[in-house]
Amino acid sequence: MDEATCDQLRARAKELVQEFDPAKVVSIFSTREQNRTTDEYFMTSGDKIRFFFEENAFNPDGTLKYEKEKSINKIGHALHDLDPLFNRFSRSDKVRDLAKALGLENALLVQSMYIFKQPNIGGEVTCHQDSTFIYTEPIDIAGLWFALEDATIENGCLWAIPGGHRRGLKSRWLRTHEGRMEFEVYDTTPWPESELVPLEVSKGSLIVLHGLLPHRSFENRSPRSRHAYTLHLIGAEAKYPSENWLQRPENMPFRGF
Ligand code: FE2
Repeated sequence: MDEATCDQLRARAKELVQEFDPAKVVSIFSTREQNRTTDEYFMTSGDKIRFFFEENAFNPDGTLKYEKEKSINKIGHALHDLDPLFNRFSRSDKVRDLAKALGLENALLVQSMYIFKQPNIGGEVTCHQDSTFIYTEPIDIAGLWFALEDATIENGCLWAIPGGHRRGLKSRWLRTHEGRMEFEVYDTTPWPESELVPLEVSKGSLIVLHGLLPHRSFENRSPRSRHAYTLHLIGAEAKYPSENWLQRPENMPFRGF
């Protein structure tokens, strides 16, 4: 994607954060202890535009260390359906053609996230497979990761384990009968993180992630942000279980291009 498009999406995200009033709700996104830190605000965000703070955004007294615009971890999870600009970008001819080229003939757009990876406090995302969170039968999912700024080792780029998508699915994050989330673990061997390679990319690049590819990112301790927009697509024929965390109400089903 060209620089101008990156800048348009960045400007729109900035506006959305400016309009967001954190006095109403504060929710933190963390991939450590994910079952504990997941709250109602997160669980019902699949059909909304919601804002999640960096875990390290707050002082001990609860005030923000930095301005609001430098404290949000991500916006999720229905930007692609609810915001006109993100909708237009996510459903552009280029993205549609790419989905086709990836073999997703009738792709549905299930989830979007605007990830800030803020300077100084950008949190890590521990090693995972996207199919753990967006599970389909059969596994038929692609993650599109658009770099809206240069992503380097310094500011917390993605890392992935080459060939790791052939090791099978390690776990699923399931909604229990009581409505809580739990990991159902199929393979307890730790990820061979020594095999991780950094995916440093320049602004405008796209990284395509197989649903089973183990990937992660480290904290951003640098003074530079690392904005990215991600979109997850599934095949329309695949079964999308009701135990997945992200659910849509009947009047707002997943849509294609
Ligand atoms: Fe991921």
